[in-house]
Parts: sequence; C-alpha cells; structure tokens
Amino acid sequence: MSSDKIIDGKLISSHIIEEVKAELKTSGIQPGLALILVGNNPASEIYVKMKEKKCAELGYYSVTDKLPEVIPESALLSLIHKYNNDSRIHGILIQLPLPKHINEMNILEAVDYKKDVDGFHPVNAGRLMIGEKCFLPCTPAGIQELLIRYNVNIAGKNTVVLGRSNIVGKPIANILMQKSKHANATVTVCHSATENISEYTSRADIIIAAIGKPEFLFGNMVKEGVVIIDVGINRVEDSSAKKGYRVVGDVNYEECYPKASLITPVPGGVGPMTIAMLVKNTLDSALKKIYK
Ligand code: GUN
Repeated sequence: MSSDKIIDGKLISSHIIEEVKAELKTSGIQPGLALILVGNNPASEIYVKMKEKKCAELGYYSVTDKLPEVIPESALLSLIHKYNNDSRIHGILIQLPLPKHINEMNILEAVDYKKDVDGFHPVNAGRLMIGEKCFLPCTPAGIQELLIRYNVNIAGKNTVVLGRSNIVGKPIANILMQKSKHANATVTVCHSATENISEYTSRADIIIAAIGKPEFLFGNMVKEGVVIIDVGINRVEDSSAKKGYRVVGDVNYEECYPKASLITPVPGGVGPMTIAMLVKNTLDSALKKIYK
C-alpha cells in the first residue's frame, strides 16, 4: 500500500544515508563506532546487527563487543574508558536495556560526551534542554527529520507526546519546544498518570506516540488532519502469522489512517530513521561538527 499521506521512513532514511556517503567522499574521513551489547536480548541483538551492517556498508571502522549477561559493571566501565581513549573511535553506543545488576546511569555517564552519538549522556541531555548544540538521541532526531522532510509546519502547533522515556518522549518534547527552526511547537507530554488522555490527543495537530502500548491510539481520539508519528514496536500474538506474532505500533493504524493528513507506518516509519541518524551522528562526531 502506498499513499501520499504515508510518511515513508525507509525512503527518507535512504536519502540521509546517501547524504552521509557524499560527505564521507568529500571529507575522506573514516568514522569509527564502538557497539557494546550486554546479554542475549533478542531485539537488542537484531538492532546491533543492523547497526554493524550499516557501518560495514558505509566503510566505517566499527567494533562490536558482545558481553555476557553476568559481566561486572567495572569491566564494562573499563571497556568504555578504552574506547574513550581510542582515536579511531568517534562514537560509543551501549545498547539498552542493560541487565538489572548494572547501574545504567553509571555506564552512560562514563562515555566521553564528545563520543556520545546516542545522545544519552547527561551533558548532551542537559545541553538539549537548554538549547545548546549537542548530540541528539537518534530516534527523536529521526522524528524531527521526518517532520522537516514532509514539510510539516511545527512552529506554534499543538503537539502531544505520548510517553516520557529518556530515549524518546523527553528528548522529542525538548527538541520540538526549542525556540529554533523546525521546532517552536507547543508541546504537551502525556504519560501513564495523565487523566483523560483523549482531551489532549483530540486537540493535537501533531501526535508522537511512544508509550509502548500496542495500538493505544484509536481513531476517536484524534482530530481530522492530524500528523501522527508512531514510535511503537510491539509484538502481538497472531496465530494467522507465520511467526505466531505480528508487529504493531502504538497507534491503531486502520482507525487513525483515514483521519490523519500524514502518518508513519509500522514497520517502515520511524524505525529505519534511528540507524540513519546514528551513522550521521557518528560522521558528525568524526568531523567534529558538534564538539571540537
Ligand atoms: N534501546 C532502545 N533504543 C535504543 C537506542 O536508540 N539506542 C540504544 N543504545 N539502545 C536502545
């Protein structure tokens, strides 16, 4: 199915990859990315493989450390310090979630913020909040890029973010509320404790759904002409599917599609953008575009 109201993340991500390739050619630099994966989370393994593959395709120098679930926090910190001091490495990514015995913030804080291509270090999160140049987290950066490239007018628009995670909800709210180009939205963040969510979503010009609840947003919760960005990737049981499950977003697509002026599909919407923004951030790091 193809329609002019579908936001094609696959297509836009391929444009970004082409732009990265062109910049690689003119700069002659080889960006380096360290990927760190702890444990055997099947989804994380797939994501890291996809990131490795994209690095290989682009000719990046990339290294992957697959570490056992039981690794002590100190060993992980030592590895991060090694990459902080390795001049071939311009980006360090620790795939989340980490096992319970590891303090996530200790790990994210150990990464040199100048190599923090995921934008999760408190320095980058803080700089984002106050509107200073920084590495933007890849998924939120990809969402803004989709809105820009589909000419969505963001300034002054009533924008509702569903979800307040550190990876998507909080950063996208911060990005879109900045007094800057391609932002300047009026942002409301709704979450698990929000009462009467429909009151917010039904008035929204733009909805970013990132709550991790399958098909949460129904057609009767949105207004005609809304722009919907669906960040959800949820497995739901489906005995008619070959694998016994299918992947759905946080949006009931069938119901919301007729009312939306633009909408992202799942898969093929936000998903492909995350990796494109990661390789872009890594190139920017190698070229010292964010920090000297
Ligand atoms: N886990 C889920 N999303 C992400 C992401 O964008 N980066 C990392 N490192 N881990 C994740």
